[in-house]
Amino acid sequence: MAFPSGDPVLTTAPHRLYIETVGCQMNVLDSEMVVASLRRQGYELVESADQADTILFNTCSVRQHAEDKIYSALGQLRRHKQRHPEQVIGVLGCMAQKDQRLIFERAPHVDLVVGPGQLPQAAELIERARAGGGRQLAVSLGRRDGPVEQIRRSHETFDPLRDPASRPTPFQAYLRIQIGCDKFCTYCIVPMTRGPEQGRPPEDILAEARLLADQGCKEITLLGQTVNSYRYHDSGRTTRLADLLTALHDIEGIQRLKFVTNFPRDMTAELLQTVRDLPKCSRYLHVPLQSGSNRVLQRMKRGYTVEDYREMMARIREWLPEAAVSSDFIVGFCGETEDDFQQSVQMVRECRFKSSFVFKYSERPGTKAAESLPDDVPEDVKRRRNRELLALQDAISEEDNRRFLGRPVEVLVEGPSRSAEKRGEDGADGAVLQLTGRTHCDRIVVFPGTRSLIGEILPISICDCTAHTLIGQTTASQASHEVVGLSALQPTGKAHS
Ligand code: 5AD
Ligand code: SF4
Repeated sequence: MAFPSGDPVLTTAPHRLYIETVGCQMNVLDSEMVVASLRRQGYELVESADQADTILFNTCSVRQHAEDKIYSALGQLRRHKQRHPEQVIGVLGCMAQKDQRLIFERAPHVDLVVGPGQLPQAAELIERARAGGGRQLAVSLGRRDGPVEQIRRSHETFDPLRDPASRPTPFQAYLRIQIGCDKFCTYCIVPMTRGPEQGRPPEDILAEARLLADQGCKEITLLGQTVNSYRYHDSGRTTRLADLLTALHDIEGIQRLKFVTNFPRDMTAELLQTVRDLPKCSRYLHVPLQSGSNRVLQRMKRGYTVEDYREMMARIREWLPEAAVSSDFIVGFCGETEDDFQQSVQMVRECRFKSSFVFKYSERPGTKAAESLPDDVPEDVKRRRNRELLALQDAISEEDNRRFLGRPVEVLVEGPSRSAEKRGEDGADGAVLQLTGRTHCDRIVVFPGTRSLIGEILPISICDCTAHTLIGQTTASQASHEVVGLSALQPTGKAHS
């Protein structure tokens, strides 16, 4: 971030908000809610920190690297804040919950620290800080800081404020169905930062989905740390993810339903059958394996074996043979030997994931692993294993993508591709630019088209591919739609790929 040393930032209304979001989809959704609540109070969103009078960082604690980036961005703001003391700087999200007052110590120019469970109060805390109320700290109770019910209540979800203008695209939305996590994998900080697992009431979820559909939303992605473990008990009745999907499927206007992230042990035949029977459900399942070695899985306390995961894959292939499955892996976890790692390699080969996210183990203070297992795999070994696993996955992804050559796929068009944006193609006056979208099984597709196609679900015929992208063209019938579309449809707002 670069800050000019010019004029002081004006503090007259409307306030100008700059927000930087790192981390998972949950954070993207949290930022949407914070932006929506501040817009209601008259804030306008600006593109860079130097135009803003309110600067917020919505942070992630899953790996050290994500935290380092935020502390470094905060460091860069220090001198800027000295010149513009009226500016309000806030740290939100998981790092706020994890580091709490330490953030004020490391970055004394920060005005507020707000955990994920206190985001509904963010607007008020910003105003208090601006009015000279001093440092504002609002975080939830720790996992050992009181009775479970009290800890639960201290993690409040922030949900109903849906504002299409606060989302990357108005026709796609995340919808939270669960907060927190009770799995306590030994490497993971999430149960500490996001608190106990809590399902949201089904009627709230359905009401929000209807609101999203009314706003023109076509695709909803249900979010939870272990989304397929979702359960809600009320008056002797239990609602599960399969029940939610069935109810959501009936909402007119919603055309695609996705859900992330899944926990292998809870991928039941009942859920898979439900997905099979509901055509709006994406044929895409993200189910992190984390390691192909039972020894490592046990140290991670993942609660399943490689054999259990294989059985789950067989279940998926039985009920949803056309589904794409993706995974996460951690390499270089405490005590991981070359043999353990080769078993992860073997599982990538065997499962033929659509894609895998591969992470080098990063020790997180406050986790079981940090307390009791030495982080003993050298950094260069972690780096090499990371590269090796990704290279294998890329080769498999490209090979599997080749099966789409010459075939039509249905694509929800999201907006200009990243390369179109880099090249400065804006599609003005109906000019053709490179668009991007996703198939029903979550594969990224790029193809030439006009802005009028953004938000549509179209058949695209695939003519080329890389490991990460299918490259296509609109079909002949679509080309004529484009001509009609050009005069009949207004371009939608900026869309991100
Ligand atoms: N180090 C590295 N990767 C991690 N993940 C979670 N915790 C850690 C950690 N301490 C990875 C897991 C998870 C993904 C979101 O992040 O693979 O599935
Ligand atoms: Fe972290 Fe494990 Fe919960 Fe996923 S299931 S959020 S990896 S503790």
